[in-house]
Amino acid sequence: MFEIEGGSPLRGEVTVSGAKNAALPIMAASLLTREPVTLHRVPRVRDVDTMIRMLRVLGVRSEWVGPNSLTLRIQDDEPTTAPYELVRTMRASICVLGPLVARRHRARVAHPGGCVIGVRPIDLHMKALRDLGATVYVEHGDVIAESVQLVGNQVYLSGPRGSTVLGTANCLCAAVLAEGETIIEDAACEPEICQLAEFLNLMGARISAIGSKRLHIEGVEELHGAEIEIIPDRIEAGTFMAAATVSRGNVLVRGARREHLGAVIEILRQIGAQVIPENDGLRVIGPDRCHPVDVVTGPFPALPTDLQAQLTAVLCLADGISVVTERVYPDRFMHVAELNRMGARIRKEAESAIVEGVERLSGAPVTASDLRASAALVLAGLVAQGSTRVHRVYHIDRGYERIEEKLESLGARIRRVHDDTSLGAPDSDAS
Ligand code: EPZ
Repeated sequence: MFEIEGGSPLRGEVTVSGAKNAALPIMAASLLTREPVTLHRVPRVRDVDTMIRMLRVLGVRSEWVGPNSLTLRIQDDEPTTAPYELVRTMRASICVLGPLVARRHRARVAHPGGCVIGVRPIDLHMKALRDLGATVYVEHGDVIAESVQLVGNQVYLSGPRGSTVLGTANCLCAAVLAEGETIIEDAACEPEICQLAEFLNLMGARISAIGSKRLHIEGVEELHGAEIEIIPDRIEAGTFMAAATVSRGNVLVRGARREHLGAVIEILRQIGAQVIPENDGLRVIGPDRCHPVDVVTGPFPALPTDLQAQLTAVLCLADGISVVTERVYPDRFMHVAELNRMGARIRKEAESAIVEGVERLSGAPVTASDLRASAALVLAGLVAQGSTRVHRVYHIDRGYERIEEKLESLGARIRRVHDDTSLGAPDSDAS
């Protein structure tokens, strides 16, 4: 658990780590070649370790060749099964599906099912592979995809909530080795997907219109090794920016990229923060009192759902009422009840949280339910009066690298205490 003593404004500089949501699909793409691939600025977080374990099961050897540099190389091209024991601990395991069927012609991946942030279907992943000619079905809880040779096609990838990030990743990884041309319509254009496409091109793929909603892929016969530096984590950057805002701090967030954080910068400015671009990052200076804003999450370039909980924590202290609407995962509000235990006044209505700002939060024992909800509780603890204990912080370790050390270096009073065992062990979760 984390013990946090609230009240210190954050000051100084912090460097964001590599993006886990870029690293995970790029790691899975190592299944597409027998040659080694090397990734730099890989965050040392639990989800990356889980992906290393998953790839080991699938015959890929991983080696840390530097503190954040990872080399991956296939040793055995036979395995095609991604087991439930691993998939249930990390939904992002689904991104081995496309690479496996493209190169090994068969994949059996445990169906990830739902998780704490919502239902999370994978129908679009399966549809994409079917469109490329694979036979795809669910049997005994596993998704099975088979194809002797994938064939390029027009793939429309939009669902009721817009584009799909990992669905686009799976479709890209399959289409690069398909025969002929593929067009992905309504592709996700998150920066992490752009980097996956750039990485596949470094491996010899032919993907064009990267960054647009209409990706064009010319299939090739084989791919080779490649090397890339993972982009800085925009969600981690946004979390530190939110922390600087709510704590009335002054923090230079090194690695925060304007082009990845447009919606977040806009919202923080409306809240009253100063966001100043500097050479290698963004400086955020928090206001004396936050202003309320109405925000809506959506696919990039809209506000990321992965920052909704953290912004909700900030708005708890605004001088008025804010409405936070979640369009990607309408049930992703597990942090609300815990924030209310700390004195927040939040009411849930359909896909929205109505946040009535209060003058102060008060420290309390709270329990994290998922990765981003944990970050929101940490932020609330940093500004609450008295001490807050955040239990089940293994959730935060899935996606934030040494967050307590980084916050401490900014003047936060936070420490990790190892007594989480009574509250249950890490099990299944979202990612
Ligand atoms: C990715 O999940 C991220 N995970 C999530 O980050 C993030 O919250 C999400 O994208 C949205 O930005 C990784 O990158 C590893 P989606 P993904 O498919 O790809 C619906 C975090 O905290 N949908 O883009 O699984 C779905 O229900 C995590 O780091 C379908 O209807 O999300 C949702 O409403 C959590 N059918 C919307 O699309 C499908 O087949 C977007 O989901 C797939 C998705």
